[in-house]
Amino acid sequence: MKAIPAPQGLPLLGNTLQMPSRAPILFLEEMAGRYDEGIFQLDLVGRRVVFVHDPDLVAEVCDETRFYKGINPPLSIVRDFAGDGLFTARHDEPVWGHAHRILMPAFSQRSMKAYYPQMLEVAEQLIASWSRRQGEDLHVPDDMTRLTLDVISLTGFGYRFNSFDSPELHPFLRAMGGALTEAMHRNRQLPFVTKLKRKNEEAYQHDIKVMRDLVDDVIRQRRSTGAGGAKDLLGLMLEASDPKSGERLSDENIRNQVLTFLIAGHETTSGLLSFALYNLLRDPHALALAYDEVDRLLPGDEPPSYETVMKLDVIPRILEETLRIWSPIPAFAVNAFADDSIGGYPVAKDQPVVVLLPPLHRNPKAWERPDEFDIDRWLPEQKAQHHPGGYKPFGNGERACIGRQFALTEARLALAMILRRFAISDPSVYRMKIKQTLTLKPDEFTIRVRERRAHE
Ligand code: HEM
Repeated sequence: MKAIPAPQGLPLLGNTLQMPSRAPILFLEEMAGRYDEGIFQLDLVGRRVVFVHDPDLVAEVCDETRFYKGINPPLSIVRDFAGDGLFTARHDEPVWGHAHRILMPAFSQRSMKAYYPQMLEVAEQLIASWSRRQGEDLHVPDDMTRLTLDVISLTGFGYRFNSFDSPELHPFLRAMGGALTEAMHRNRQLPFVTKLKRKNEEAYQHDIKVMRDLVDDVIRQRRSTGAGGAKDLLGLMLEASDPKSGERLSDENIRNQVLTFLIAGHETTSGLLSFALYNLLRDPHALALAYDEVDRLLPGDEPPSYETVMKLDVIPRILEETLRIWSPIPAFAVNAFADDSIGGYPVAKDQPVVVLLPPLHRNPKAWERPDEFDIDRWLPEQKAQHHPGGYKPFGNGERACIGRQFALTEARLALAMILRRFAISDPSVYRMKIKQTLTLKPDEFTIRVRERRAHE
């Protein structure tokens, strides 16, 4: 067996202090650049963690007969508030299967079509807001967050945040950002240090309470209006039972799922749309193709139909390539079922192995000209040749993202609506600065817009 390469660490703390608390992904990318083998290991507060970014090794750890989704730190810390919701449920918790089967119908193609009018309604609010603010610096991640939060809460739970009515982001978002950031910090703290930081603990508990109160409000509103029979996420959770076991979800689990969807259902899509606009501003050719496509398929001011949005071709390729170059979720973890080996390296039973997406998605073994933004990679003939382990923005197997189609439908629509209406520009020449709160965003990224043609 080969030895897994590892940088020198300190006694007790190992490599913990080398990993910065702000944007640890940048440090992990630097490590990945150092180890061409596509694998390395770190000692993080006494835990040995293996990282892989070689597509062959990734294909191996994506074999679900040998590896299962690991709920290790930081996800095990996120369980403090997301509990046994789908994202943070352990692989051996039966409630994962109950909830997964109950909720699957809410992510069918037919459901996407049913959500479409509400997706459109919120996208129109974004367009109206930008139309009023032409010539101003628009904070892209904030507005994409308004859009995606309002879409998931309206389609999933019939709940309105009305985020575009307020210049401030909703308090739920501040609490969520605080709790996710704290979870990330705790990931690199010895437990006794976490205990000593009383103020942080108080703020963490406060943030969790703000989020839980909001979730209770969402559920209370639904129960009081008695929207019985609604087939959205909340309707299914309150009324449906698992077709396999007949089990219903407990009230506690429903709260965990609502919070999970409020977070997982908007953070990532907002990052995707922000990075997509960033990429388009740096690729005039792709931008011209996108303008051309929306002018052809979405002429005039009529709201586009679901069928039209499904016909788009350039915009979906822009989104795929954005997910390759800037994956909003930068990593996911699996653990080995038994003592095993990958590519001749030993992996012990239950050993956490983290798939590092940025260096995987730019790995020259899987991608030609890996640093180049090239939407033609997603033409069908080229796509058929992609390395099977080279692209994993939505995770893997049965624990892969349940909201993938939802995110892509929403993002297609939003990007098409923006480009149909506005010419986008970046007069401040933004330089990428990553903000990490478990997911990635371009920090403080602003753009300006002006109408491309006169509107009523
Ligand atoms: C799981 C990415 C949008 C709900 C995941 C995972 C990834 C991911 C990588 C697996 C994480 C892991 O293995 O630890 C993304 C990206 C998105 C996106 C890149 C947008 C571009 C959404 C949306 C929803 C959603 C819109 C909900 C409507 C979930 C849930 C899980 C999940 C519930 C857990 C699934 C399970 O384990 O059963 N997502 N996601 N995601 N995602 Fe997404």
